[in-house]
Amino acid sequence: MSLRIRNSLERADWAFAREVCALTGNAGHPIVDRSRWLFFGEQWVGPYERLRPTWSYVADEVSSTSGASERRLGYLTGSPDSTTFFAEKKWLFDLPLYLAASAGVFPRNGDVAAFRKRFRAEVFGPVADLGPRDHFPPADTRAVVAEYPAHLHINLIAAARGKGVGRLLVDRFRADLAAVGVHGIHLYCGDGPRAFYERIGFRVLDRIEFRPGFIVYRLGSRF
Ligand SMILES: CC(C)(COP(=O)(O)OP(=O)(O)OC[C@H]1O[C@@H](n2cnc3c(N)ncnc32)[C@H](O)[C@@H]1OP(=O)(O)O)[C@@H](O)C(=O)NCCC(=O)NCCS
Repeated sequence: MSLRIRNSLERADWAFAREVCALTGNAGHPIVDRSRWLFFGEQWVGPYERLRPTWSYVADEVSSTSGASERRLGYLTGSPDSTTFFAEKKWLFDLPLYLAASAGVFPRNGDVAAFRKRFRAEVFGPVADLGPRDHFPPADTRAVVAEYPAHLHINLIAAARGKGVGRLLVDRFRADLAAVGVHGIHLYCGDGPRAFYERIGFRVLDRIEFRPGFIVYRLGSRF
């Protein structure tokens, strides 16, 4: 199998990323309830398309004879500047999404309710039940982001896993970051993919028990 990584994503690539996001959104497995897919993909992929389109990548399987792309295998979304990214995201992506969700554009479900609750909390003040990222002590988070300014999300279709595609995507992201003077990436994950990240040079920085028995790790890579 010949592989190609590209980062000038087209409309169909973003649709692919949203679909793979839903296909892996259940701890690496598909979200069973398909009515959740639309909002889930929008929530997780949309900000990168809207705010940092040049920092997302798709891996293609390529015909070794014609060089033509035969199928898409997976994607990586990310940002070199997480602090600015999340500040922009709140008003330029989350606010319009909040208004759309409140207007009933998406099927009502638990994801939409949690997002709306979270957005209101971010605007009007802290509440206890936010996402994993917010459960790490804020001072620690500031220190982590200072040392590891970039972040990423990566997901592959099931048939492409275990063949070096994930490593290739992260290596390309690292190379592009290094070219603009950014030398650290942080990310959050559960138990499933942790060994993959450790294998490709990340280390566990800290961890929380987000829910009883469910550990969320924060990892970092300097390069
Ligand atoms: C996690 C994921 C991105 C890894 O990509 P991948 O292409 O399967 O991984 P690679 O083949 O590039 O693996 C790179 C190295 O990590 C190792 N590795 C990968 N997954 C591993 C795992 N679950 N446990 C232990 N080692 C693992 C590989 O053996 C390889 O080691 P090597 O260099 O010694 O051969 C991919 O499997 C995936 O999309 N999984 C489902 C969604 C997901 O969990 N996304 C992450 C959300 S935080």
